[in-house]
This record gives sequence, C-alpha cells and structure tokens, in this order.
Amino acid sequence: MTDAAEWDAIFSGDPAVDVPQFPANPHLLELAATLPAGRALDLGCGPGTLSVELALRGWEVRGVDASPKAIEAATRHAAARGVEAAFEVGDVAYWIPLGLYDLVTSSHALPPPAHEARRAVAVAAAPVKPEGWLAITEWAPAAAETLGFAPSDLLSRTDIVAELPGFEIIRSEEISAPRPDGDGEAPALIVVAQRHPR
Ligand SMILES: C[S@@+](CC[C@H](N)C(=O)[O-])C[C@H]1O[C@@H](n2cnc3c(N)ncnc32)[C@H](O)[C@@H]1O
Repeated sequence: MTDAAEWDAIFSGDPAVDVPQFPANPHLLELAATLPAGRALDLGCGPGTLSVELALRGWEVRGVDASPKAIEAATRHAAARGVEAAFEVGDVAYWIPLGLYDLVTSSHALPPPAHEARRAVAVAAAPVKPEGWLAITEWAPAAAETLGFAPSDLLSRTDIVAELPGFEIIRSEEISAPRPDGDGEAPALIVVAQRHPR
C-alpha cells in the first residue's frame, strides 16, 4: 500500500526535473472530448496531468489528492501551462464535495485496501449531476502481483459497478495501461457510467 506520505516522497523534489508526470490518461481524455466542457472533478489527481489537460480544453476543474506535494506540483503545472484549476488536499475515500459536477474522474487513484477503494467509488459517484458522467480507470486485480498490490486491494469491474446505483453503465472493459515503472503495460480496467436523469 502506498499512503499519502509515500506519495509525498514520490512527488517531492525539483519540479523541473523529477516530479513524475504520468501522461494524461488517454481513455479519460477521449471521453471528455465527447462531452461539452463543464465542471470536472479529478479525484486522486496526482501532479495534475489530466486536470490540466481538461482545463486546457475548457473544463472548470477541481483536483483532489491526499499528497500535499502532488497538489503543489499540480498547482505549479497548471500555472506553467497558463490555465486555472483548483487543487486541494483531501482523502478521496472521505472527501465531501461542495456542489455537483458534469464529469468526475479517477485515474489509477482508488486507495487500497478494498473497503477504502469502495468508499472512494461512492464518494466519486455522489457529486455527479443528473445525466453527468463518472469515469474510473484502475489496475485490474490480475495486475496485483506484478505491481506489488495485495490481490484483495484492487477492485474488479463488478465491485465498482456495485457502488453505482442510479447510474447507467456505458462502458465496463478490461484494458491495459503503461506500468508506472515504464516497463511495458499491465492489466487495467475502465468503468464509465452516466447518472440517470432525475
Ligand atoms: C498512480 S497516482 C495517479 C495520479 C493521477 N490520477 C494520474 O493518473 O496521473 C495515484 C494518486 O492517488 C493519490 N492517492 C492515493 N491514496 C489517496 C487517497 N486516499 N486520497 C486521495 N488521493 C490518494 C496519490 O497521492 C497519487 O497522487
């Protein structure tokens, strides 16, 4: 398990040199490109790569991450790209939103163990507007051993969908994603859901 302090260590250092910039999640960017820009919430935003790309495309973005260093990096990243985005430190399993969002994203940021990850899915779902969108990518349980997770730390697509009453599941698929160490790809999953109109 990687906690906020460990992520802080990862995101510390000279931002010009060694703050890791995971590429903006292409699956989530692709979905956003099909939607009219509105309010977006990026949970577990890390150094803000996806948040900033969304802001550059006209979204009003809020990013939340448990790591203060990640939030500092995200804030610097937005400034460097000349966009406005709001970033705050928060635990995505317990965060309480103010307001509703057209799009909520979680890119490889559901915190272990599984009961916290389930909470984070419910937290992500709560502020989605009627007819708004929720999009989650995460490592699949099949990736646990190779990426150093306990198998029970990673939710299946069924686990995620179970936390989404009131949503239509638009997409639920196994995908692969670049490993954090750059050594090829690992099994991942994507769930895209749209909240029913009220
Ligand atoms: C693999 S990184 C992904 C970052 C970003 N979403 C992306 O795709 O580039 C996981 C992120 O989740 C954050 N995180 C882990 N547990 C968290 C929690 N309980 N609450 C908020 N953020 C958390 C970490 O600090 C880290 O920034």
